[in-house]
Amino acid sequence: MSKSLGLIGWRGMVGQVLVDRMKAEGDFKKFKSHFFSTSQAGESAPELADHKTLLDAYDKKALSDMDIIISCQGGDYTKEVYGALRESGWNGYWIDAASALRMDESSCLVLDPVNRSVIDKALNDGVKTFVGANCTVSLLLMGLSGLFNEGLVNWISTMSYQAISGSGARAVEEYAKQIKEVGVQINEKSAMEIINHNNFSMTEDVIGAKLMAGLIPWIDSEVEGGQTREEWKASVEASKILGHQIDIDGTCVRVGSLRSHAQALTLKLNKSVELSTIENLIGEAHQWVELVENSPEQTKAKLNPHYTSGTLNVAVGRVRMLKIGNENLLNIFTLGDQLLWGAAEPLRRMLSII
Ligand code: HSE
Repeated sequence: MSKSLGLIGWRGMVGQVLVDRMKAEGDFKKFKSHFFSTSQAGESAPELADHKTLLDAYDKKALSDMDIIISCQGGDYTKEVYGALRESGWNGYWIDAASALRMDESSCLVLDPVNRSVIDKALNDGVKTFVGANCTVSLLLMGLSGLFNEGLVNWISTMSYQAISGSGARAVEEYAKQIKEVGVQINEKSAMEIINHNNFSMTEDVIGAKLMAGLIPWIDSEVEGGQTREEWKASVEASKILGHQIDIDGTCVRVGSLRSHAQALTLKLNKSVELSTIENLIGEAHQWVELVENSPEQTKAKLNPHYTSGTLNVAVGRVRMLKIGNENLLNIFTLGDQLLWGAAEPLRRMLSII
């Protein structure tokens, strides 16, 4: 008999991408699907739902009838509902996009092309809570899994270029407003007038800074030692995904791309390896990684958010040894869609694995 699946937060950006991917892959045929809502219980559910009305996302009885719950509703919802549901004795599978349960001892982080053995062990051990990792972390590991598989990575310094969609739908809409507002101020001006214009006015209520024609080297709240939470996640989440400690740190930067997060990496390798071997390991790791030739043409065409956004491709390029020191320092640039491999796709695949 097919399992009952409850979907929560399916109207948000990650939720919509998840539902679209599930439709495209025919996943809804595998489950009896129930759509939940935090505000519109009783109204009509989407066409593809097996249960024709929306259920109340705060109704513990309705939730506990589910074999599997998948939530893209966000951390506040998870914190409010998850603990109480578990305490009530519910022992179903909880799959979550939010960060709230990521470091919980009873959860497993999911990114199956990279950590299928960790996931299988967790399932065998009776783990019932599976969480998608931070988008930059997942995309980094998807791009470099060939090097991790060979145990070649000693540490990584990453400088990210993160899309505005990582800040949520309202930020995307405000960014569109900033584009228009700046557009008006530079319209039909000369180059000198544009670059001498140093006081652009734009709406910054949601984003909290001027992003259009600018950037923001601060994402999320502050943790210890001047690090941001986004930067802190890299090492702890990557280590949990891989099942062993890996040191990663750097600066996370918000830029004006829309869906794809990019990262400029310095990798310290554990030993000296031929560049061609490194390229083969990266490019042949799995079907979603695309090794991009280190040429101006290929780099401009493919190491670009316009190329990866809306696709499952994780592009990896600018692969070369750094010309500083003699310490096996590798330079790489990688990017991918933060809503697909960065968020929805690992969760969708976890449903099928269950
Ligand atoms: N923390 C990410 C960002 C969101 O701010 O870009 C994607 O999970």
